[in-house]
Amino acid sequence: MDKNGLILPRDFPELKNDNFLRAAQGDEVEHVPVWCMRQAGRYLPEFRETRAGKDFFETCRSPEACCELTLQPLRRFPFDAAIIFSDILVVPQAMGMEVVMCPGKGPTFPEPLKDPEDLQRLKTKVDVSSELDYVFKAITLTRHKIEGKVPLLGFTGAPWTLMSYMIEGGGSTTHSKAKRWLYRFPDASHKLLNQLTDVIVDYLLGQVKAGAQGLQVFESHAGCLGPVEFKEFSLPYLRAIAGRVKEKIKESGLENVPMIVFAKDGHYALEDLSESGYEVVSLDWTIDPRSARARTGSKVSLQGNMDPCALYATKENISGIVKRMLEGFGTRGYIANLGHGLYPDMDPENVGAFVEAVHAHSRQLLKR
Ligand code: CP3
Repeated sequence: MDKNGLILPRDFPELKNDNFLRAAQGDEVEHVPVWCMRQAGRYLPEFRETRAGKDFFETCRSPEACCELTLQPLRRFPFDAAIIFSDILVVPQAMGMEVVMCPGKGPTFPEPLKDPEDLQRLKTKVDVSSELDYVFKAITLTRHKIEGKVPLLGFTGAPWTLMSYMIEGGGSTTHSKAKRWLYRFPDASHKLLNQLTDVIVDYLLGQVKAGAQGLQVFESHAGCLGPVEFKEFSLPYLRAIAGRVKEKIKESGLENVPMIVFAKDGHYALEDLSESGYEVVSLDWTIDPRSARARTGSKVSLQGNMDPCALYATKENISGIVKRMLEGFGTRGYIANLGHGLYPDMDPENVGAFVEAVHAHSRQLLKR
């Protein structure tokens, strides 16, 4: 602690379980590491209790609350990584847009971007270190409180996914308002994607400086693009983010951290994703593990990809599904996860069964 009572990003407890970091680098592991997207979420009664009666983004702005929510799943399950509790939409907020969380409806922008003139409403210079300081504080506090149990991951939304939220104003099935920009206003689209990329690079670097030991970039809306649009409006920005963050980490004298790219439903781009500068490519459940390996080779580690809905199966069946998944991916250069986040109605016991099955089956496979 410094004299102001602030916890500083140094003298962190030593890391005890580094299986996640080793798998990300393709090194040998004791067991296949496992974590879940949305592991800090509403399926946990203790999460619902901590969140009760509080505004979602107010919770995101409280480092103490974010730290507590991040640690809750680790008290129940032997996950091999933690992901900081926050949201991808804090970035549009930092750029000057209002975002509210409407219970039952999800995130909503009262005044979404309609036409290119609306880009003037965005801040031209975003001081990421002050605007998103609360996320950095949450990461630093959590790095101390996690006591080196497992690595702590930071994250961001990717430019296209954030752009689509900023234009749609919330969730959408067609993303037609945002895709209208790509076809009608390609220059303005690139301008916005570039602005987002600049903020994201500073944001991820800030997270590493604050103590993040890995980073995941969520391109959750890759599936609504076709291969041609993905190559023009998503891939170059994903590449730029990995390249620039890694360069800045080096310049700052910090240690490299593994970066994960998750382009949901982006199976058409798997080869490109595996050569986009990330150590790990995270997969949704629509890709067969063996074909994913064949298409990416040994250049990158893979993460994923059990259908989250498989957690509605019995524990015995979960174990069988996990075994098949592990045999498909192999135990080297592999991080077990779901193909997307956990849903609020999932039984925590089955999440535990998933984690246990990954550890048990992978130890068996590694013995051979
Ligand atoms: O545990 C973790 O994975 C870390 C925390 C995390 C949250 N959001 C917490 C959260 C992460 C990594 C995110 C990322 C995020 N947020 C994404 C990308 C991942 C994905 O799902 O594809 C997206 C698209 C968002 C935007 C967002 N935030 C949505 C669509 C929702 C759900 C709205 C709803 O009501 O169902 C949120 C809210 C949110 N973010 C919750 C959590 C735990 C649930 C709401 C709550 O706690 O009250």
